[in-house]
Amino acid sequence: MSKVLMLAIITVLLLMLEGGMSSRTRTKRELAGPLHLSGIRDPYGSYCQRRGGCCPGRNDQCTVPYMDTICYCDLFCNRTVSDCCPDFWSHCLGTTPPYPPSSCERNGQRFHSGATYKENCNLCTCGQNGRWECEHHACLIDADMIQEVNSRGYGWRAANYSHFWGMTLDEGLRYRLGTQRPSRTIMNMNEIQMNMNGNDHLPSYFNAAEKWPGKIHEPLDQGNCNASWAFSTAAVASDRISIQSMGHMTPQLSPQNLISCDKRHQGGCAGGRIDGAWWYLRRRGVVTEECYPFSLPQQTPTEVARCMMQSRAVGRGKRQATAHCPNSHSYHNDIYQSTPPYRLSSNEKEIMKEIMDNGPVQAIMEVHEDFFVYKSGIYKHTDVNNYKPQQNRKHATHSVRITGWGEERDYNGRTNKYWIAANSWGKNWGEDGYFRIARGENECEIETFVIGVWGRVNMEDMHSHHHHHGRRK
Ligand SMILES: *[C@@H]1O[C@H](CO)[C@@H](O)[C@H](O)[C@H]1NC(C)=O
Ligand SMILES: *[C@@H]1O[C@H](CO)[C@@H](O)[C@H](O)[C@H]1NC(C)=O
Ligand SMILES: *[C@@H]1O[C@H](CO)[C@@H](O)[C@H](O)[C@H]1NC(C)=O
Repeated sequence: MSKVLMLAIITVLLLMLEGGMSSRTRTKRELAGPLHLSGIRDPYGSYCQRRGGCCPGRNDQCTVPYMDTICYCDLFCNRTVSDCCPDFWSHCLGTTPPYPPSSCERNGQRFHSGATYKENCNLCTCGQNGRWECEHHACLIDADMIQEVNSRGYGWRAANYSHFWGMTLDEGLRYRLGTQRPSRTIMNMNEIQMNMNGNDHLPSYFNAAEKWPGKIHEPLDQGNCNASWAFSTAAVASDRISIQSMGHMTPQLSPQNLISCDKRHQGGCAGGRIDGAWWYLRRRGVVTEECYPFSLPQQTPTEVARCMMQSRAVGRGKRQATAHCPNSHSYHNDIYQSTPPYRLSSNEKEIMKEIMDNGPVQAIMEVHEDFFVYKSGIYKHTDVNNYKPQQNRKHATHSVRITGWGEERDYNGRTNKYWIAANSWGKNWGEDGYFRIARGENECEIETFVIGVWGRVNMEDMHSHHHHHGRRK
């Protein structure tokens, strides 16, 4: 055996011995923190390279400062992996590190690069740098905003809604509203002349649901269907027909009938116009919700369903459905129509008188980011997001049904006047699906464009509808 070979064997044996003992004696290196477990951050940094090279075998002095500790560039570190400098493998061994290129931590767990999770409306991805990289969308539910609203005295309270959680503000504005701002021509529509005389007594509180019990319909839920144009129109027409027929007919008219069949310049669940909706109600008419129920768009929110129900003239301006109800349990496919709608002035008193005399009205309004989290009280758009980027402060047009008004004294002794209005975001939202909003100051433009309408009801209708139009057995 040559001397050289003997020496080599002894060296190997010594190295092995040393290695075997190290786990007991070399506590310092272990205490330095298992870098790969807590994340070797800065994987592209140069440490061993900056040090000027690597050390063969074991050399406890072969270190470089790393974050708030040290890392090693001696071959020995390869056995424990945990205390090697990030560039040890690439620089000293010319290989890739025995751990994934980067990993991120979340709630004490590690994730490989490329892993994702959703934080409210934002997708976070574990990036190459070992850090979570998150999108920066403004979310529809914003915990800060809710807290700000509730901690300051705005006169209304905010809440989290699980059906809005995870949506972006843009999605809320795109899928939960859906009324096109009326065109200039429509906006210039003449307002009806109302002869208000001093004798008109307007009470300080009025609620259509109390004056006309059983004739004011409960708020529906448009889901992620951008069609408030159809929901608010159907709702106002339903109430008006019920009131006008003195309860002989109390149809809840079908928004879906409008969404699927009123296609003239209308986008179904992709938005539409209220003037178009009224045109359809007057000229074609719609059936009840029970007959033609609302179905949420399944695939894409903008999907426009096929029209299942037309109407044809049967003389004297009356119309009849061309098909059975598109469901197997409802037989009453009577068509309901309206007269042309009329525009009210923006004068608070005139709007009040109209509601009190004739029933709920339709109004457009601008919905701002804070309206989605409204829970109770008298809503006013707040400035809580004013310090945030523009993307957190947005608004779009919606339409709702105003059903009454009132006033409330706050702790400062100030009287706050409000409208009572029905939204179309389900009964879990707001005050049982309703909201109250400041009155007399055109809050969110709610007094800008207000519409009233008459149902087309005559004595004959009252009688023919009367016997079969009660609730379904
Ligand atoms: C040390 O590095 C080599 C690459 O040269 C690798 O194959 C080996 O598995 C590593 N040893 C340990 C204990 O990680
Ligand atoms: C809001 O509700 C969702 C779903 O119910 C919940 O996961 C989330 O943590 C809540 N957010 C806040 C800010 O309370
Ligand atoms: C929602 O409706 C509005 C008004 O018609 C429209 O401007 C908007 O593009 C619609 N959004 C989607 C996603 O269809």
